[in-house]
Amino acid sequence: MKPQNFFAVCPRGLEAVLADELQRSGATAIRAESGGVGFVGTMKTGYAVNLHSRIASRVLWQVGRRGYRNEQHLYDATQEVRWQDVMTPQQTLRVDVTAVRSPLASLEFAMLRIKDGIVDRMRDVAGDRPSIDRVQPDVRVFAFLDAATVTLYVDLSGEPLFKRGWRADKGEAPLKENLAAGLLALAGWAPEVPLLDPFCGSGTIVIEAATIASGRAPGLNRRFAFERLKGFDSHAWRVLKDAARANVRDDAPALLRGSDISTRVVEQAVENARLAGLERWLADGRLAFAAADARQIEPPAEHGMIVSNPPYGEQSAPRSATVPRMMADVGDRLKQVFPGWDAWLLTSDRQLPQQMRLQETRKPVLHNGPLECRFFRFSLVKGGYRPRAAAAAR
Ligand SMILES: C[S@@+](CC[C@H](N)C(=O)[O-])C[C@H]1O[C@@H](n2cnc3c(N)ncnc32)[C@H](O)[C@@H]1O
Repeated sequence: MKPQNFFAVCPRGLEAVLADELQRSGATAIRAESGGVGFVGTMKTGYAVNLHSRIASRVLWQVGRRGYRNEQHLYDATQEVRWQDVMTPQQTLRVDVTAVRSPLASLEFAMLRIKDGIVDRMRDVAGDRPSIDRVQPDVRVFAFLDAATVTLYVDLSGEPLFKRGWRADKGEAPLKENLAAGLLALAGWAPEVPLLDPFCGSGTIVIEAATIASGRAPGLNRRFAFERLKGFDSHAWRVLKDAARANVRDDAPALLRGSDISTRVVEQAVENARLAGLERWLADGRLAFAAADARQIEPPAEHGMIVSNPPYGEQSAPRSATVPRMMADVGDRLKQVFPGWDAWLLTSDRQLPQQMRLQETRKPVLHNGPLECRFFRFSLVKGGYRPRAAAAAR
């Protein structure tokens, strides 16, 4: 297999942890950029990253790249690609264009020129043209335009990779699975560390942690776009999947706890854990969910890590004034009964440390969809850091 260029897309803020993960999948020439990481590998590496990456949203295979100044140059760029090796004329196609600082006036027109270029080329070399399907295409081409270069990619993933194939229902504001995995990686959580999410909602963070502890590849139960591409190496794919299955350690020790004030979402978290194949973990108590108010939460172990995304103003309509007051009480509770724990809280509310009267020791910036968030780290010591007077002033 020849070396190829790939680009793994991820939520902004997770590029460094994605780069670490890619290294473990055998990728080389790893370059972190904003919103993703470029890498080199064989097509098998591309399959492996789809199967194993917890943090990428999608993996793109670079098939062309050249300078451009106008739409004709985009058309010309498509003529340099051997599309007949990627797809058959009977397959359906979709083209998407994203641009940063492109001089072109219309991205719609740019997309049409690229689409025309691909179908014309296919007609010339394969005798017929693929048809367009914007909803469920067999092959999806992404063109990325910067100020002077067009890069053409074929999507290897299909459904975004945060869709692990298990989620039953949506909670109030579920985290995407790859963001949950990114939080655990940024926090430096390891399976031997007791983990608690006291605002667990549909359970995403704790379920992701259990699948990490079990060594279960996140892509084992889903399909990928590369399986439909021409030249798909089904043998190499089967070997990768068999090896991934053999790696599952369903008896790995762990202590994973999620709780939430809403009994309805707790039931949903349990159901999600079952769908994720964690029945055994629930049965023997390594993974458990309970209905509880975070203001009265008890530590499940002497030391451990809290990783959570508490409710934040933007997500409740109307914007809630009760959340800051509740977080102040949660801050008090953490200081009282969680000494020795590390708490990592994702929120778009920059006032969270003041509300909780805790001093953060780190606050990396992360993007949760359109929301710019901070992932605050608090090292909990008995008593806390800010004077009670701050509470009186509220
Ligand atoms: C942003 S959501 C968490 C979503 C979760 N990470 C997921 O992936 O589904 C915040 C959660 O906090 C819960 N919540 C609000 N107030 C709470 C409290 N006092 N104690 C515990 N949970 C609370 C809500 O019910 C909601 O499920």
